[in-house]
Amino acid sequence: MLQISREFMDFHGMKVPATVHTEESLNYAWKEFQTRDDDIFNVTFPKSGTTWVQEILSLIYSNGDTTSVKTEYSWDRVPWIEQYLGRSRLENRPSPRLITTHLPVQFFPQSFFKTNAKIICTIRNPKDVCVSLYYFSKVAQFMEYREDFQEFVSLFLSEHAIFGGWFEHVKGWLKLKDKPNMLFLSYEEMLKDLRGNVIKICKFLGKELDDAAIDSVVTNSTFNAMKGNNMSNYSAVPNYLFNQDKVSFYRKGVAGDYKNHFTDAQEEEFDKAYQDFMKDVNLTFA
Ligand code: A3P
Repeated sequence: MLQISREFMDFHGMKVPATVHTEESLNYAWKEFQTRDDDIFNVTFPKSGTTWVQEILSLIYSNGDTTSVKTEYSWDRVPWIEQYLGRSRLENRPSPRLITTHLPVQFFPQSFFKTNAKIICTIRNPKDVCVSLYYFSKVAQFMEYREDFQEFVSLFLSEHAIFGGWFEHVKGWLKLKDKPNMLFLSYEEMLKDLRGNVIKICKFLGKELDDAAIDSVVTNSTFNAMKGNNMSNYSAVPNYLFNQDKVSFYRKGVAGDYKNHFTDAQEEEFDKAYQDFMKDVNLTFA
């Protein structure tokens, strides 16, 4: 059985949960993994829409057929490359492989940069990411946890944040924004217009779906549909690993929930950090 601890490991200065990552698994993703031209990567900082895009990609690649999303776990359909099961889940998988990662660009598979493989990178308002991560750390028993929200915000803004921290992560990926094999999505825009974003993704991937198939992708990737799908809602994960008794993985799925959590002082601290870190980046949030 997996040993659960809230310990973190340090990988060349990047902090990641030690329960699901190893030095070997991170090195595999970074240096050993052989990217194929038709690989599709779902890149996110945690809590930015990872599971959502996993579901959308699964549905697009089945032309709207729901068999795979109803019978296979999301983490099997679109596995994380950097986690300890990444190698076994991806190595012999037939193409096209749908792959998830939270890796910052500097630890992304080096082989990718010599291929035509595609990346979809989803970005969410970091204040909402912070709130979502705070609640997620109550659910996921392998996450570093702070009961006090103020302490959690300070951790989120510090250099001790996971996966290199939101700022470095997003800045790193945005440097590749002009590459034709990269598509950036906004969580907030997806909430406003899911269908439009599904069509945008299909276009980027060169997938021609008819209207009925698009409708199925949209219907089956709404918050409520996913929350009710036992293959995507983590209900199959035992409580000692994912405890959803008090907080659901599908918590709210909205934009702007930070307004219900941040005090004025916290918002000020956050905005100041944002201005410092992101001053050379053209990216703003409501
Ligand atoms: P909240 O905690 O704010 O509710 P990730 O998949 O990257 O871990 O992100 C999880 C966040 O995305 C959670 O946010 C979750 O509710 C939200 N989410 C998951 N599926 C969604 C969907 N179909 N529509 C909107 N939000 C979704």
